[in-house]
Amino acid sequence: MAGPDTAPTAPVPRAEPLTRLYEEAGLQRWSLPPALAALYDGDLGFSKPCLYANFVASLDGVVALGPEYPSSGSTVSGREPADRFVMGLLRACADAVLIGAGTLRASPRHRWTPEHVYPAAATDFALLRQQRRCAIEPELVVVTASGNLPAEHPALRTGALIATTTQGADRLTRHLPPTCTILPLGDGPALRIPQVLDTLRARGHTTVLSEAGPHLIGQLVGAGTLNELFLTLSPVLAGRASTTRHGLIAGLELLPKRHEPADLISARRRASYLFLRYRLPHRPPATDDGDHQGSTH
Ligand SMILES: NC(=O)c1ccc[n+]([C@@H]2O[C@H](COP(=O)([O-])OP(=O)(O)OC[C@H]3O[C@@H](n4cnc5c(N)ncnc54)[C@H](OP(=O)(O)O)[C@@H]3O)[C@@H](O)[C@H]2O)c1
Repeated sequence: MAGPDTAPTAPVPRAEPLTRLYEEAGLQRWSLPPALAALYDGDLGFSKPCLYANFVASLDGVVALGPEYPSSGSTVSGREPADRFVMGLLRACADAVLIGAGTLRASPRHRWTPEHVYPAAATDFALLRQQRRCAIEPELVVVTASGNLPAEHPALRTGALIATTTQGADRLTRHLPPTCTILPLGDGPALRIPQVLDTLRARGHTTVLSEAGPHLIGQLVGAGTLNELFLTLSPVLAGRASTTRHGLIAGLELLPKRHEPADLISARRRASYLFLRYRLPHRPPATDDGDHQGSTH
């Protein structure tokens, strides 16, 4: 995934088509509008319910360059148009896009809609959503414990669902625009991930795309709730020295004690970029005691 932020007026060049290198037989396929299928080199679909994440990483595994570099995913991806197209396509397939407040704060001008990230396919993204009888746009869901959200953010001004703690809700009701729905989900210092996802399903969101950063993803993985991972491997080295540069997961250590294997189910290529799709093995939902394995920062 390209890091999200881009000035609303910045032109996004047209993507060159991806080339399919491998795809597992028997995957769920929705019939994409022909222009999308041509760019993606095939159809795409999801078994429901499905929670899938999208990330771009450098060859040395960096997804976030550190707090002093907002929208660092854009830098990691080099704003590759094919990557932006895949981001848009994955959003166009989703009932809801889930992010943590860290990602919202790091992308001050972004909107998490298909056409914002790849405007050239706006008509076909809309057609796909119409064919699938989805809402015009996926609902943006922002998870925050602190309630520290920038009220002037364009994604909040156009409307979002804010999943937060009781304390966060108290803070937010005073300054968020009325376009936002605030959902208090408990008194604790952090929300229970299974409860957040159950709440989304109760709203009819069965296909959910996570564009959260490493902290929230760590919790989705920790709670055993992530079904699929789309990973763009960007042909660049990011390096690490004194700044904290996270890989895909922060706040959770897995190996050597916990083994989380993944099956490669699709691989595509555009020039030196690889677009990988993995299935994470099904895990039973975590219990109330087992879903606080990450930290919120
Ligand atoms: N390369 C990529 O593909 C990619 C993708 C996404 C993001 N990023 C980058 O990642 C960086 C942001 O990383 P991040 O880890 O901070 O983002 P994040 O995981 O999206 O957001 C973390 C925040 O989410 C909230 N949160 C997480 N778990 C929670 C829980 N259980 N209950 C309540 N709130 C919870 C907390 O917000 P509060 O602090 O408000 O409580 C926490 O600080 C940015 O630089 C962004 O550009 C890169």
